[in-house]
Amino acid sequence: MTKVDIELQRKMCNPPDTNRTSWGKVLVVDDSVLHLETVKLYLEADGFQVFCAGNTSDAWLILKKEKPDLVLLDVRMPGENGIDFLRNMKVHFGSTIVVIMTAFGSEETAAMALKLGAFDYIKKPLKFNNLSKIVEKALSMKNKIINHNKSIEALKNAYEKLQVSADSILQCMSAGVVAVDNSLNIRIINQKFIEFLEKDREIVVGQNFYYAFPEFEKYRILRSTLENQRSVRMQEIKFNIGHIVKTIIVNTDIIYDHHGSGIGAVATLEDITELRHKEEMLRDRERLAIVGQMAAGMAHEIKNPLTVIKGFVQLLARTSDPGIKVYVDIIDNETTRMNQVIQDFLQLAKPKSLERNLMNINELVKQMYPIIESLALIKKHNCIVKLDKNTPSVLMDSAQIKQVILNLCQNAMEAMDEGGNLTVETTFLPAKGEVCLDIKDTGCGIPQEKIKSIGVPFYTTKAEGTGLGLSICFSIVDKHKGRIDVQSQEGQGTTFSVILPIER
Ligand SMILES: Nc1ncnc2c1ncn2[C@@H]1O[C@H](COP(=O)(O)OP(=O)(O)OP(=O)(O)O)[C@@H](O)[C@H]1O
Ligand SMILES: [Mg+2]
Repeated sequence: MTKVDIELQRKMCNPPDTNRTSWGKVLVVDDSVLHLETVKLYLEADGFQVFCAGNTSDAWLILKKEKPDLVLLDVRMPGENGIDFLRNMKVHFGSTIVVIMTAFGSEETAAMALKLGAFDYIKKPLKFNNLSKIVEKALSMKNKIINHNKSIEALKNAYEKLQVSADSILQCMSAGVVAVDNSLNIRIINQKFIEFLEKDREIVVGQNFYYAFPEFEKYRILRSTLENQRSVRMQEIKFNIGHIVKTIIVNTDIIYDHHGSGIGAVATLEDITELRHKEEMLRDRERLAIVGQMAAGMAHEIKNPLTVIKGFVQLLARTSDPGIKVYVDIIDNETTRMNQVIQDFLQLAKPKSLERNLMNINELVKQMYPIIESLALIKKHNCIVKLDKNTPSVLMDSAQIKQVILNLCQNAMEAMDEGGNLTVETTFLPAKGEVCLDIKDTGCGIPQEKIKSIGVPFYTTKAEGTGLGLSICFSIVDKHKGRIDVQSQEGQGTTFSVILPIER
């Protein structure tokens, strides 16, 4: 009996270690039948399922059919050499562990096999009593690799989910966000940022920020953030987008990596155009209130002496000789005009409370038409009236709205040279619950920069004007919870739209 036989007999008598977890399928590839049989007996004795192949062709068949966990591979075989077989195997059965068996003195072959992905090598002649331990170690390593790969896969999934939710948060934000690297190339950008600037061309990640948005060049906000490595807070900038001037608040921050080095910057944009507009309106109202208080005081002081002057002037007119009467008439006319200005002041200062009745705006236009037409005739203007039959009645103070119509029509006619077209048009806007009265002229128009002065008390461009007509109109329509919109093109004409809500 040889030493090997004795050892084998000992193994057969001792059952395998049942606490072991790494049972598995092992394929042994060797051209020596005796070697194959011995390895098989040893490994089976330790509880492994063993398959044997005397050449690489048989080994392939077993690999495909049984998918072993581990291959014990002899590198020196007739036909296909073990190294080529290993190379092929790693392509098609990448997760199968390979332990090669090399003859003494073939270290180079062993090194090559390890390079090609073999897990380990054992030298021939084999120490059979150690074989199971080597196989076991290789298999437990395989399990570790599988678990490791599973953890990596789970981490990858979690990361992808996180990225998806971060991206959807970014895209649904009401602020525009852009992140750039240190070379000012766009790394992240959300839809809102692009919408703010109303760009129709495609913005590509990787593009230079100032190339994509040249309108930012003069503000240098992101550039200076990167150059000074300091964030910018609440910088207000203005953009002309078409005819609209947009007011935007920009904040920037530095982006740091794990080591605390700046790797880029992020900018957030908030559109505050609407807010600024409301603030301006509020300021105008405050101005109006101050003017109102002043007017009230002045009116009281001036109105009484003026009445006295007017009374005496009329008395003088009766008694004066014709030479003086000319001057007395002028004084009379001027005091009447002064009285009118004071009257207008008073209306702004202490607006009459509304006496509202259900009234159709079409009806008001019809009532006003004879006056408007006769004023138009004097200046040889054409007067066109278009009334929307569907316009419903609205609760309004007819007398005050009539004043609005008259003031706006007067302005329109004063803005046109002879033969202009004055259009008075009503429209019902059911979706918005509003009625609209447009007073449109083909006059000189209002320069864009002057539009914001429209309605400011005393703003006038006319030698004889007081600049109170529109202030009164705005104040009346405001009390009706409506609004007046102005659209004007210099040299083409102006449309004032009085919009009243339907309140029932
Ligand atoms: N339809 C219009 N077309 C062009 N400019 C207009 C028009 N309506 C108003 N404006 C401008 O707005 C200014 C203010 O108008 P507003 O009616 O308040 O005062 P006014 O007409 O100058 O004087 P008044 O107090 O006598 O009405 C005008 O002087 C004019 O420059
Ligand atoms: Mg006017």
